[in-house]
Order: sequence, then C-alpha cells, then structure tokens
Amino acid sequence: MTTDVVILAAGQGSRMRSQLPKVLHPLAGKPMVRHVIDAAKCFTDARLHVVIGHGAELVREALADEDVTFAVQSEQKGTGHAVAQALDNVGEDKVLILYGDVPLIKPGTLTALLEQVDEHHLGLLTVTMAQPKGYGRIVRDAEGRVSAIVEEKDATEEQRLIKECNTGILATTGAQLKRWLPALSSNNAQGEYYLTDIIAMAATEGILVATAEPATSTEVQGVNDRVQLSALERVYQSWQVEALMREGASIADPKRVDVRGHLEVGRDVLIDVGCIFEGDVTLEDGVSVGPYSVIRNSRIGAGTVIEAYSLIDGAEIEGESTVGPYARLRPGTSLARGARIGNFVETKNARIGAGSKINHLSYVGDASLGQGVNVGAGTITCNYDGVNKHHTEIGDNVFVGSNSALVAPVSVGNGATIAAGSTITDRVEDNSLAIARGRQVQKSDWVRPSKR
Ligand code: UD1
Ligand code: CA
Repeated sequence: MTTDVVILAAGQGSRMRSQLPKVLHPLAGKPMVRHVIDAAKCFTDARLHVVIGHGAELVREALADEDVTFAVQSEQKGTGHAVAQALDNVGEDKVLILYGDVPLIKPGTLTALLEQVDEHHLGLLTVTMAQPKGYGRIVRDAEGRVSAIVEEKDATEEQRLIKECNTGILATTGAQLKRWLPALSSNNAQGEYYLTDIIAMAATEGILVATAEPATSTEVQGVNDRVQLSALERVYQSWQVEALMREGASIADPKRVDVRGHLEVGRDVLIDVGCIFEGDVTLEDGVSVGPYSVIRNSRIGAGTVIEAYSLIDGAEIEGESTVGPYARLRPGTSLARGARIGNFVETKNARIGAGSKINHLSYVGDASLGQGVNVGAGTITCNYDGVNKHHTEIGDNVFVGSNSALVAPVSVGNGATIAAGSTITDRVEDNSLAIARGRQVQKSDWVRPSKR
C-alpha cells in the first residue's frame, strides 16, 4: 500500500501583496510549503504531489531538491479542481490532502487522521471555533454523523451558527477521489469546484466521516496575509524555544530569540536576548551567547563565551574560547581550544591555534596560526593582490606587533617577533625579530612654521 499526499499550492495569495508566491514566503527561514512537505515526510514511503499554479515556475525551482511530483492547475477553479489535477499520478489507496499555506500541521495529527481511513471511512480534520467566519461548516445529521460541509457563502443563517469548522485537511482513498471529483459541480455561490462537496457524496454512499481535532488550532491555521504569517512565526518560535529550554538551555527572554533552522544545545547553555540562529548550529555544554549575536551554520564547543553583537558564520570552535564583543567570524574559521577573538576582529578561512589571541581590530583571512600566537591590534593579512587570494602561515608562539601588515603569500616561523607597524613581505625565520618600517627621524630644536 502506498500513500499519496497532495499539497495544494496553486493559489495566488493576493493579500500577501508580494511578487513571491505565497507558499514560498518563509516561516522560520524556510518556505511555508517546505514545512508542509517536511510534515508529510512522516509517511516515509508516501508519494508527494504539489499542485502549483500562481508562480508555478518559482515554486518548482524552490522545491527542485525535493522528491515531489508537480501537477499544474493553470486556472484556480476551486479546491476540488486543484486536487483533480494531481489524480493522474495518484494511486487507489490512501490519499491525504494538505495545504501549502497551512505550515504548522504536525505529523502526529496526520498519522492519526490517516489511520481512520479505509474503504468505509473518510478522515476529516475539523476545528471548533468561537469565531467561525469564513470557514466551511460541518453539518451533522440527527445521529451526529457528518452529512456535508457547507461553505459560509452557501450556508443558511442557521448553518452559519455551527462552530465546528472544516480545516480543509482530509484523508480518503484514491479510488474514491477518482469517482467523486469528476462528479463535482460548480453550481454554488463562488462558481468553484469545492473539494468539500465530496463529504456529502461520501455520506450518501454510506461512508462514515470520522472527524478529529488537532491538539492546537494553530496547527491548522492558514496564512492569507503577512499579519497571519507573523503570528504563526511567533507560535513556531515559541515551540522551538520551549524545546530548547527543556533540553537544558536558559533563555533570557523566550520572546527574543529566533531559530531559523536547527539549533542543538547541550546542558547549561545561556542565550541572551536578541540572538538569531540560522541553519545548523550546535552550542555545546556551558556555552554562553551574549545579546544580539547571530550564529549561522556553526559549532560552538563547550565552555565558549560569545560576547555581545557577534556574527559567527560557518565556524568551528573547539571549546573554552572567547569571541567578541563585536566579532565577525566568516566561513572557514576554526578556533582551537582556548583561542580568543576580540572586538572588531574579522576572520575568514582561518585556522587559529590553541590559546592564540587576536584581541582587537584585525583582519585575518586565508591564514593559519599556530598555538600561543599573539596578534596585536590593527594587524591585517593582505590576502588579496587584486586578482588572487594568498595564504599566510604563522607558527607557534609568534608575537605580531600592532598595526602590522602581512603581505601574503608569506610565512612566519615559530617563536618569531614582528615589530609594531611592520609590513612583512618575506619569510620571517624561527625565533627572529623582523622590523619592516621606516626608521624614526628626529630633528632637534625644530621650529614650527608661524602665521605670516
Ligand atoms: C477552504 C474550504 C473551507 C475551509 C477552509 C479552511 C473548500 C471549498 N473550502 O476554504 O471549507 O474551512 O478552506 O481554510 O475547500 N487552492 C488551489 N487551487 C484552487 C483553489 C484553492 O490550489 O483552485 C488552494 C489555495 O491556494 C489554498 C487552499 O487551496 O491554499 C484553500 O483555498 P481557499 O480558496 O483559501 O479556500 P477557502 O475559501 O479558505
Ligand atoms: Ca483559505
């Protein structure tokens, strides 16, 4: 038995007022429709179908790496018509219908819904709402069995009082969809082919509609505009931050941390306000992240302290290091144990050895530094000749005096000392002192010019 999941993503989303198709708007840094796809992946052997229409090519491109088939609905003639576009690729067994703009649906809710389905039962996800405006209402017969869904625009005064609403998410079989969808009519208030009309068809055939409600209504909330999107973003972030706290992280203010990707935390991690984590980030035991830091695709080893306002991207930090405040670690930076990167220091593609320090106002790029190196303030690796990038190699226990320029390619041997203000263009041998600057000139009893 294979399961088919059909995700509707053809709508325009005009209320987003955007060039970007609605389902590609990001939630926690990931397009909404990808959240839905990821939830559907809980059915490991399911085939995924995405119905596209508005901005079809953009959606197709954005999902190029996903194992999904696309069905194009060139004109949006309703939800029933949308599902019908995918039917050619759908089998006879279980089919689950999802929506690209309902991003927070949880796998557990979907598996429970699908379990209800066989040739005698259809599964329908409903939600009871105090303010059901705009939703299709669930109509039940005298015995309490679902007999139909009526859209608000087609509903009678009495039906509009019903608080039980259609979420849109339902599960049935391909065999039934292939029988029912061609029989839909657009003879209704909106002139559309409503998917919801299959409920009455099922009831007429004596198929029971088993309903279930999600644990939280946010799971089934759709996004029509940016206000709703931001509301779901906050809900999603609160779920993530709560999970982090349960794993052992202290979060100064759960409302002021955003995770756009996956954040793995050890025990006794501290995260101050305003931090953003993107991509895959690991904070090992005892790491502390100061306020307003941004960490992207990096591993921060145990006991490391990240001070305020640091940007760390694509870095590997072994542990017991100090970074910032105001540090920028760019991709390819690795810090061995106990390294220190201070304020206004930029590193890129740089291996910094254990216990080495670059404490102030420096650029170190395309370089490797040994252990116990001290890089003085204002040191620059001149790695770029205008055409190519070159490497700087610095040995162990080197002392680089302040305001030095290391013109790559160049190497500095173990234990060497570079005098402040030097421009180093040649190899500095082990344990030597290199001074590469103009000598100080002194003119005694110098008289300054005076105004004529
Ligand atoms: C639909 C349901 C309604 C339910 C509500 C929940 C129908 C007829 N009504 O109403 O019972 O309470 O969702 O939010 O199903 N779409 C397409 N192609 C189309 C039409 C829609 O892909 O031709 C997609 C839209 O992009 C959207 C989803 O289907 O993601 C729902 O369509 P929408 O028009 O918003 O349906 P509602 O009127 O909200
Ligand atoms: Ca809708």
